[in-house]
Amino acid sequence: MTTTLVHFFELQKGVGVLEIIRPDALNALNTSVLQQLSAHIASLTRNQNLSVVILKSSGDKAFVAGADIKEMLDFSPTQAFEFSRHGQSIFKSISELPQIVIAQVQGFALGGGLELALAADFIVASQKAKFGLPEVGLGLIPGFGGTQRLVKRLGLARALEWTTSAEKYTAQVAYELGLVNRVVEPEQLASAVETIANAIAAQGPRAIRAAKRAAQAADSSGGELGYEFEAQLFASCFSGAESKEGLSAFVEKRKPDFRASGR
Ligand code: CAA
Repeated sequence: MTTTLVHFFELQKGVGVLEIIRPDALNALNTSVLQQLSAHIASLTRNQNLSVVILKSSGDKAFVAGADIKEMLDFSPTQAFEFSRHGQSIFKSISELPQIVIAQVQGFALGGGLELALAADFIVASQKAKFGLPEVGLGLIPGFGGTQRLVKRLGLARALEWTTSAEKYTAQVAYELGLVNRVVEPEQLASAVETIANAIAAQGPRAIRAAKRAAQAADSSGGELGYEFEAQLFASCFSGAESKEGLSAFVEKRKPDFRASGR
């Protein structure tokens, strides 16, 4: 029997919820989660009855703590390239959904988790949420579109600081930088998102779809090339000892030593 890792339900008229359910691994994105996400996205692409999709996850601690580090441990560069392109294409489909997609972020949105939130149309976060791209701490770079989308959202200098420092930023900082639309008390997160979703769903459904397409056209600079390049560079990280050290250190619950001889 297949475990349900991504669940979809209709919350109310015009509003659907897509929920990632893998709380024991802080909702980390492994191949099975990505496959189930992809299947739901494919059916949402054809769904004309919904105006809004709320993208959320299970548990209090994390929205999504990134791509699954344990799964990536033994990746070859070729597998890493395919994994990156697979994730990128699903996230692209999310950004191209006809509905408005709201990421509801209650905790950590790190690495692939932040990349997923960035693929949504906007983010509403709890005061407890933390955002960041910690991949360089694993000897990697983001591989699900984060190097491209964060530059668009924050500008080159800030995005590069985020991507290379591996720092985790509070929801308030993310709000001040324009990454997050609203920050609310943790216990108000679900109702705040629902209120916004209902307000959108009460408007003309065709107009909502047209508004999204028009707005995205204004923001369409930068093309496929950057994503392909990201996947190539992500894959190249798997050809040396650095990522072995970074990924093993996480699994072994120790600090990586990137300066040791031979790396
Ligand atoms: N992949 C797989 N498992 C993960 C995970 C991940 N990204 N993040 C957390 N987990 C697992 C942990 O291994 C742990 O499992 P066990 O109980 O079996 O040991 C469980 O979730 C709980 O995590 P922690 O014990 O680490 O919880 P914590 O409160 O001490 O720390 C955290 C929370 C700061 C989010 C920490 O879990 C963390 O740093 N996670 C990794 C974040 C990260 O580096 N993300 C980027 C991944 S790479 C990526 O995303 C590449 C890409 O772009 C494609």
